[in-house]
Amino acid sequence: MSLTATELVPIPAAPEGHVFRTIDVVRHSGPCGAVISGVNLATELPEETIAEIRRALLDHLVIFFRAQSLSADEQVAFSRRFGPASPVPFVNAIPTHPEVIAVVREASETQRFAFGGIWHSDFSMLPQPPMGSILHALEVPPFGGDTLWANQYLAFENCSPGLQNALRGLSAVHSARDAYAPKMQDVHDMFKGMSVQTSEEANRTQVHPVVRVHGETRREALYVNSQYTIGLDQWWSPEEKLLLDYLYRHATQESFTCRWKWEVGDVAFWDNRCLQHMALGDSSGHRRFMHRTTVAGETPAR
Ligand code: SIN
Repeated sequence: MSLTATELVPIPAAPEGHVFRTIDVVRHSGPCGAVISGVNLATELPEETIAEIRRALLDHLVIFFRAQSLSADEQVAFSRRFGPASPVPFVNAIPTHPEVIAVVREASETQRFAFGGIWHSDFSMLPQPPMGSILHALEVPPFGGDTLWANQYLAFENCSPGLQNALRGLSAVHSARDAYAPKMQDVHDMFKGMSVQTSEEANRTQVHPVVRVHGETRREALYVNSQYTIGLDQWWSPEEKLLLDYLYRHATQESFTCRWKWEVGDVAFWDNRCLQHMALGDSSGHRRFMHRTTVAGETPAR
């Protein structure tokens, strides 16, 4: 029997209904995102506050903090409260801090394409992709340069039961070949502010489940993305292209997304296990400069 999708799965009014004691949490968008206030990330926060920040991250998938002023050391210290640093291949760390990369778009860059400008989950081609990424805005353009996130729990929950069952049994092949292999050097030459090392290593492949069970929430999330997923394990290419193209479009539809307009001092902390994200390259003439740290994650599991 075929099914007709009459409505999307409703978004919960207040995810989990958690009450927070040490932070204020205000929802930013329907599908995901919350703004947290009442906390200075540059200080050594008590365990209870860290636990509440983690709870808010699990509830809202991406959390934002305004008006922070973190040195690279302070950002590393905050990041480590959530786990060790993840490996960050191909992108060089800043000289003084091996756990920090600079995400920079120079004012002189005119291309409509930003670093991180294709929907992705960070480094999904690693055997253990990062759990989270933390981006701190140090210089922002007066317009443009927003970041978008898409909720991959909703993406999975809004597939039909029949498609969900089929997807649960599938594995996808991930690779950085279309991002960091030497053939991509021309693209990286456009990114004047970035320090990237293309390499043959990027042609390596890694297989992950198409639907992963989040290690903390135990919820199922769609886990394919158009930047790093290059195929479906044991499928022929015309078949996999059809299904993957459908899933990429489905997974990033507007009703699953939130969007952030950056101000200097903002910090965004997102969960790569259940989100995709992309940056917009529409701020030509103005510099955008961020520091990013990345928290290690688990092996994606069914
Ligand atoms: C990224 O981590 O993919 C970059 C995100 C951004 O610059 O907004």
